[in-house]
Amino acid sequence: MTHRSQETAGALKPGGPTAAVLAWYDTHARDLPWRRPPDPTGQVPLPDPYRIWLSEIMLQQTTVAAVTAYFKAFTERWPTIEALAAADETEITAAWAGLGYYSRARNLHACARMVANDYGGRFPESAAELKRLPGIGDYTSAAIAAIAFGEPAPVVDGNIERVVTRLFRIGEPLPAAKFFIRAKVADLTPKKRPGDFAQAMMDIGATICVPRRPACLLCPLRPDCEAEKAGDQTAYPVKAAKKAKPRRRGAAYAAFDRSGQHVWLRRRVSKGMLGGMVEVPSSQWSSRGDGATGPDGAPFSANWRKVGEVEHGFTHFDLTLEVFAAAIDEVPEREGWWARLDDLATEGLPTLMRKAMDLAIAFPKQSE
Ligand code: ADE
Repeated sequence: MTHRSQETAGALKPGGPTAAVLAWYDTHARDLPWRRPPDPTGQVPLPDPYRIWLSEIMLQQTTVAAVTAYFKAFTERWPTIEALAAADETEITAAWAGLGYYSRARNLHACARMVANDYGGRFPESAAELKRLPGIGDYTSAAIAAIAFGEPAPVVDGNIERVVTRLFRIGEPLPAAKFFIRAKVADLTPKKRPGDFAQAMMDIGATICVPRRPACLLCPLRPDCEAEKAGDQTAYPVKAAKKAKPRRRGAAYAAFDRSGQHVWLRRRVSKGMLGGMVEVPSSQWSSRGDGATGPDGAPFSANWRKVGEVEHGFTHFDLTLEVFAAAIDEVPEREGWWARLDDLATEGLPTLMRKAMDLAIAFPKQSE
């Protein structure tokens, strides 16, 4: 396939930064389950786009360490895009439990179905086309195009922003600096091995050019790094002052049966925060910060006792969830099921609900 030609000024000049980054990657690349080893020859086939797409969606806002086990579990259970497309959405969201940002799991399924049904099971090969698929934005489209299809698309994630603002001492604060960073990365990205280059920059950002104590002596970009010369590496990236996140409040109500071995769970409506995920019955978390709390907010009446509060950070707000527990005699409502406490790990509770359960589980023992 052809790609729009991109002027790659510094790219692959012997002794230039791009050549140094690729040479470093040849011996220092991290061995990650979705990766193909570095390929200095340019002859080794590119990796399976399905695995690259899946890993990149999982890695959005989540660390490599957290993603590895999930990536293995997903690819064993759903080895192809068709298999994932055919899966039930509740199976996917349950397998995703703990990775957070659950809209990613729903978009993952929507994207798998679109590729399987509308694209004959093959991902489109350019960043521009990939960006039209659900859950795929600027970063992910460029990463998939570069790594799985060899397009010299500029890949810029948070780690790469740090590397590049230091390399060129870009003093413009983020997010305004993104435009300049992207232009610099486009300039550095080589036409050959763009995927290896992108992943090398990610690795440098994750292991050398770290936020607080960068290991500049180990860095292949050291000869070119303007911040290192000036000695002010940790001043970059400059960030615009953050607005404080608003706080919302709500409550979760854990109802146990009299044996203390089962808890009543239900599924959240598919729209909104944690949509479609399993929950301990909860009140709304109001955007005005006055979500129903206290025993009166419960979806059914019981002898509720407060067992504590959990704190959880979402992208645009922090949540304080009061946790109540009670022992009850009857099935409280039609929508839901009794879950065995011993089998809770199989229920796919999102982290917030897992935290609420951890508090509530202490309750039946206290009331005996
Ligand atoms: N973070 C996001 N994508 C990555 C990749 N392909 N390798 C390492 N870290 C990443």
